[in-house]
Amino acid sequence: MSEPASTSAFKSVMRHFPTGVTVVTSLREGEPRGITLNAFASVSADPPTVLICVNREARSYLYISESRIFCANLLAAEQIDLARRFSGMMREHQFDDIGYDTAVTGAPVLRNALGYFDCEVVHEHHAGSHSIFVGTAVACNAREGTPLGYYNGSFHDFGIKVDS
Ligand SMILES: Cc1cc2nc3c(=O)[nH]c(=O)nc-3n(C[C@H](O)[C@H](O)[C@H](O)COP(=O)(O)O)c2cc1C
Repeated sequence: MSEPASTSAFKSVMRHFPTGVTVVTSLREGEPRGITLNAFASVSADPPTVLICVNREARSYLYISESRIFCANLLAAEQIDLARRFSGMMREHQFDDIGYDTAVTGAPVLRNALGYFDCEVVHEHHAGSHSIFVGTAVACNAREGTPLGYYNGSFHDFGIKVDS
């Protein structure tokens, strides 16, 4: 039983894979920008390295590609509004009314995020419609809390432990 790997088959299989949710921020010519993104992964702990995949049609793409910095903010379950805000609901003035700080690169570190990796881009690879940015973390931090998850097209609270 197999299906050809069409774009729609690809998407419907991918719905079965749960992920966390990040808001990846950047800063270009003093202007901050953010994008909700679940294509985020750990690459290596030494040196500390992560990757993100960004659609080259997204506004955020040029911010990251040109500034060569980004901060991956890991969202907590109670930050679902931020996930929605940065997934296209607010095209301009994205950071009005929300608090943020900066770490090393200057990319926004969102207040109350569960954790963050502030990164310098070391590689960009084109892959289909997206670019894979590999970033070295120059600062990171985390707090206790419950992560926001994304699965089957919906946001979830990923705080339930099923292991003993
Ligand atoms: C849960 C979730 C995960 C997403 N993951 C990604 C992703 O990994 N890469 C990406 O390019 N867009 C992703 N998107 C879509 C972007 O958030 C969306 O296209 C956004 O409007 C792009 O904003 P921009 O054009 O202002 O940069 C995701 C959206 C949601 C809701």
